[in-house]
Amino acid sequence: MSTINEGEGHFSFDSELLPETLPTDPFPIFQHWYDQAVSNKIQRNPNGMYLCTVGPDARPSCRTVLCKILVPDPGYIVFFTNYESRKGREITGNSEVSILFHWDAMERQVRIEGPAIRSPQAESDEYFASRRWESRVGAWASKQSEPIESQDALMLQVFETVEQLGLDTAELVNAGPDAKVDIPRPPHWGGLRVFPRSVELWCANETRLHDRARWTRELVETKSGIAPAQWSATRLQP
Ligand SMILES: Cc1cc2nc3c(=O)[nH]c(=O)nc-3n(C[C@H](O)[C@H](O)[C@H](O)COP(=O)(O)O)c2cc1C
Repeated sequence: MSTINEGEGHFSFDSELLPETLPTDPFPIFQHWYDQAVSNKIQRNPNGMYLCTVGPDARPSCRTVLCKILVPDPGYIVFFTNYESRKGREITGNSEVSILFHWDAMERQVRIEGPAIRSPQAESDEYFASRRWESRVGAWASKQSEPIESQDALMLQVFETVEQLGLDTAELVNAGPDAKVDIPRPPHWGGLRVFPRSVELWCANETRLHDRARWTRELVETKSGIAPAQWSATRLQP
């Protein structure tokens, strides 16, 4: 059993290796690691992950996003963003992405590759409605990844957006961050579900011969989304 003990501002962690006989599905271990990282607040954003996309010039680019939903069956994760941002446009052109979670204090890494598909509207609506009003206004006000001349110009855009949405800035500021205000989700903002075609789990071993295995599966595109086939597992040399 793994344990994480919070000490004087750091974590000590008794690691465990992957099971000798690899399970048929990597998601239960991935979820266990994810839950441990989140519940133990192992780092400031334990659900932070690096997302790599590929542009039309075949060049990759990488940035941090937050994993907001993890669904072990049929196995996908969800992050939320502006569909017209650089990453959004790159995914529209090429849905194949690469994702990396690194929980340094737990000496674990999860590597995911597969297509990113837009969430159903209801999933995006539900998550959008759960965000604080500032973030919801921001989703309308910021043309993510586009140039802007200054922070002042950005703030002006925010105030204009507040007006266009028929909101009262003074009222909102007085009511604080948890003010209950009705702000619709912008059509250009929502979730992306990443269906891994491969998942690699890596964990450190005291011997320095670290443990590593990759699971792969076929993904069949259907009218209603993606139908994943069975996983197959392979242990890899570190
Ligand atoms: C800790 C952290 C979490 C972030 N989470 C998100 C996120 O969930 N969604 C998002 O669109 N951007 C997020 N960002 C900002 C992105 O890293 C990036 O700057 C932004 O999405 C624009 O990327 P792009 O121009 O490549 O599309 C986060 C940044 C950091 C540092």
